[in-house]
Amino acid sequence: MFEREKKGERAVVVLPHGRGDVDSASRADEFVELVRSAGAEVLARLEARVDRPNPKFYIGTGKADELAEVVRGVEADLVLVDHTLTPVQERNLEAHLKARVVDRAGLILDIFAQRARSHEGKLEVELAQLKHLATRLVRGWTHLDTQRGGAIGNRGPGETQLETDRRLLAARVKMLTQRLAKVNTQREQQRRARLRNTVPRVALVGYTNAGKSTLFNVITTGGVYAADQLFATLDPTVRRIEDLSCGPAVIADTVGFIRELPHDLVAAFRATLSEARDADLLLHVSDAADDERELLARVVDEVLEEIGAGDVPQLRVMNKIDLTDGEPSIQRDSEGVPQQVSLSAMTGQGLDLLRQALGERLGGERIRAELQLPLSAGRMHARLTALGAIAEEHVDADGWQLRIDAPRSVLAPLAGAGDEASRALRALIAPPQEPA
Ligand code: GTP
Repeated sequence: MFEREKKGERAVVVLPHGRGDVDSASRADEFVELVRSAGAEVLARLEARVDRPNPKFYIGTGKADELAEVVRGVEADLVLVDHTLTPVQERNLEAHLKARVVDRAGLILDIFAQRARSHEGKLEVELAQLKHLATRLVRGWTHLDTQRGGAIGNRGPGETQLETDRRLLAARVKMLTQRLAKVNTQREQQRRARLRNTVPRVALVGYTNAGKSTLFNVITTGGVYAADQLFATLDPTVRRIEDLSCGPAVIADTVGFIRELPHDLVAAFRATLSEARDADLLLHVSDAADDERELLARVVDEVLEEIGAGDVPQLRVMNKIDLTDGEPSIQRDSEGVPQQVSLSAMTGQGLDLLRQALGERLGGERIRAELQLPLSAGRMHARLTALGAIAEEHVDADGWQLRIDAPRSVLAPLAGAGDEASRALRALIAPPQEPA
């Protein structure tokens, strides 16, 4: 018994593919990897050609019989299918195979449950899991109750909710929804505070396993958790980065992206990924040693698009150059702006280049803030207007009320003098002080 738990669940993986699927081999390998990273031991994999899904099992009945043989043969207790199954198909397969069946959506939810890092992310994942569970509650749970902690598809709410009925489930969904609404409000307040404070915010994004967390840890080594009033500590994975030429910034780690994130899950993980949407700059990390890195980068970009972060500027990071014959380097566009840094988070080669590139890119990030100028500051007002730095303005008894929206580097040269207007501008763009 102990032995078994240590090894993880005994799983058989079913890999359906259609006629003329192009990348089915690499897709299959990835699914097997996902299953392993969820903690299961893969005892057998079975390809299944599915031209027309069988309403009862999704795979054909002949295949289902073959699968039952395999499951019996290797004594598996879990079958993972790389496709979305209807609740009915899942139930029919479970009855036929005498083993628990989890589909692609269930597996991805499980992985997200293990890895969701922010408070909000955890709530979102639990909500998505419960909704997924609710559609499957009609089946008898008894054959599942023997599973203990760590069972794929049962982690998160699974363990605590197995014995509960629909009514309790609905109450829990309602409670989570309310709590999330509250977290969203808090986040919105923090966002406004951030706009006023203009600390640049960076988010790490990338395909699962690209090395985001490793990079996060090395670049913030000894870094203080950004547990200050700006971010109200909801998320322990936001930390400060010091020693940048632009002054301090904060950086957030996010959950890894996965190919073909089922569509309803994309919606559910909006919050998990809201760090990405709110960032001034995305560090898009790729595994330089992976032949599919460009394909995976496009998948990441598509998900970013879907969650409304498609327009956030990116700095690409080619990580793991220690596994290639590449050298640490910065690649720049025709205007000299850093676009890509090649490095190794593991050996530390190229981290200095990343700091340099971050300093340059963030130094060029936009300042969006309110600025009040006395009516006597006509010259400053004219210069700001000429630079296109004023997004909105009106005049009242206190002077000009301006909403500034311009790159820091454009504003900095105007902030050097000793007059009141220069001082006001300086207060706006100076790197913020350490929080007490
Ligand atoms: P998710 O949590 O799945 O999104 O993954 P992640 O992108 O956070 O990747 P993580 O930092 O967990 O790294 C994945 C694996 O790659 C780990 O085994 C790391 O040790 C390894 N890794 C990370 N950076 C490097 C690197 O520069 N070189 C080498 N050789 N391995 C690395």
